[in-house]
Amino acid sequence: MKPLLEVVNVYKRFGGVVALKGVSLTVMPGERVGLIGPNGAGKTTLFNVISGIYQPDEGKVIYRGVDITKWPPHKRSRAGIARTFQIVRPLANMSVLDNVTVGALMKRSDIEEARKIAYEAIRIAGLEGKEDVLAKDLNLVEKKRLELARALATDPQLLLLDEIAAGLRPREVDSLVDTLLNVSRRGITIIMVEHVMRAVMNFAERIIVLHFGEKIAEGDPREVANNKLVVEAYLGIGVG
Ligand SMILES: Nc1ncnc2c1ncn2[C@@H]1O[C@H](COP(=O)(O)OP(=O)(O)OP(=O)(O)O)[C@@H](O)[C@H]1O
Ligand SMILES: [Mg+2]
Repeated sequence: MKPLLEVVNVYKRFGGVVALKGVSLTVMPGERVGLIGPNGAGKTTLFNVISGIYQPDEGKVIYRGVDITKWPPHKRSRAGIARTFQIVRPLANMSVLDNVTVGALMKRSDIEEARKIAYEAIRIAGLEGKEDVLAKDLNLVEKKRLELARALATDPQLLLLDEIAAGLRPREVDSLVDTLLNVSRRGITIIMVEHVMRAVMNFAERIIVLHFGEKIAEGDPREVANNKLVVEAYLGIGVG
């Protein structure tokens, strides 16, 4: 099997801050990957590089064997790369259905077809019955599910989730993880950026750890969680 995504030696600088320092990673089709690391480690920046919001200063992004490093975000979206945002930002005065239809219209112009796809994405995301509710009237977990539905409506192959479990109660985290496992079973490859360990440990089959823009560990979730460098990074002792 060929990798779905390859990030090759990516550097990204913001003025004096080096947000990503030679990050490389490979994701296989259908994988569930957890991407963790302390605040400011570069996780969101890496998602921005993969989704095309930022161009890396050095390095490459390869998707399905094609170098997409220079592709704009909309072209990546049409090719099957979708993401949710750390700060949820639905269109507040629009209904759930309309919000998700916007996602569905990314790949098609037929409104009836887009609606059909939106209903299905809403169902998969666990928001069935909320189609007519305005986005601003949803609670936090429902807003997270709306983010998920919007991403699903673009018919992704690769789904990037940026802190989808943040701020949720343990029971809400568990039900969201169940939903995400279902999404994964549909064949969608998922990279989950997450601080909520309960979510990552129950979801990911492999974990990658970033610290000050560098990959410091990678592998089986339980081994990574006990890795000395990772524990030190989280305790703020620093590495090297
Ligand atoms: N647009 C930007 N301009 C300047 N600096 C930025 C920008 N985006 C990110 N940074 C910096 O790059 C570093 C990595 O930030 P990033 O948001 O990727 O971290 P993160 O791992 O997602 O953190 P968190 O867990 O807090 O969300 C930080 O030092 C951040 O301040
Ligand atoms: Mg972030």
